[in-house]
Amino acid sequence: MMAVLDRPHELILSESQIEEKVRELGSEITNDYFDKTPIIVGILKGSVTFLADLIRSIDLRLSIDFIAVSSYGSEMKSSEVVKILHDMGTSIQGRDVLLVEDIVDTGLTLAYVVENLSIKHPKSLKICALLDKKEARKPGIELKIDYVGFEVPNKFLVGYGLDYDEYYRNLPFVAAISE
Ligand code: IMP
Ligand code: MG
Repeated sequence: MMAVLDRPHELILSESQIEEKVRELGSEITNDYFDKTPIIVGILKGSVTFLADLIRSIDLRLSIDFIAVSSYGSEMKSSEVVKILHDMGTSIQGRDVLLVEDIVDTGLTLAYVVENLSIKHPKSLKICALLDKKEARKPGIELKIDYVGFEVPNKFLVGYGLDYDEYYRNLPFVAAISE
């Protein structure tokens, strides 16, 4: 595929590396939830690409929903305040919820979303993140990420759902760019 990244970059994950990992995560989730009917909740917009591929690797009866939270704006830095911009249309009470996120950076977004969903009494709540920028985690934020695709360096990444100023989400690979 000829998707263009028209600026200096460093390839972090190739399309085939991602494909292989998504299939692995999908079968792990299929095994773990074999007797369940989970609801897979994506955090917009970055998780869309990952979620779309992941659910096709999960061999279960499942449903999907989305929430949108405020985040970076057009900056490369994480904002400190998280807000829910769009909430789910489905009730999660008594459901097995699997939250899907593209990348965990400071952890603020997920910590907020987990808190917000926990009070709605899901039967279980787990997290699946394709990328974990572990070094960037904000001190004091305790997050258990149940399924992680890759640990990635503390660089600004684009592609496979991740954007810079809303662009590059459609790249089939993940690359690091600089300011
Ligand atoms: P956190 O709240 O700092 O963990 O940031 C999480 C959100 O910021 C993710 O859902 C991404 O949308 C975005 N984000 C974090 N790191 C990057 C990056 O390197 N490139 C693009 N978006 C990122
Ligand atoms: Mg995101």
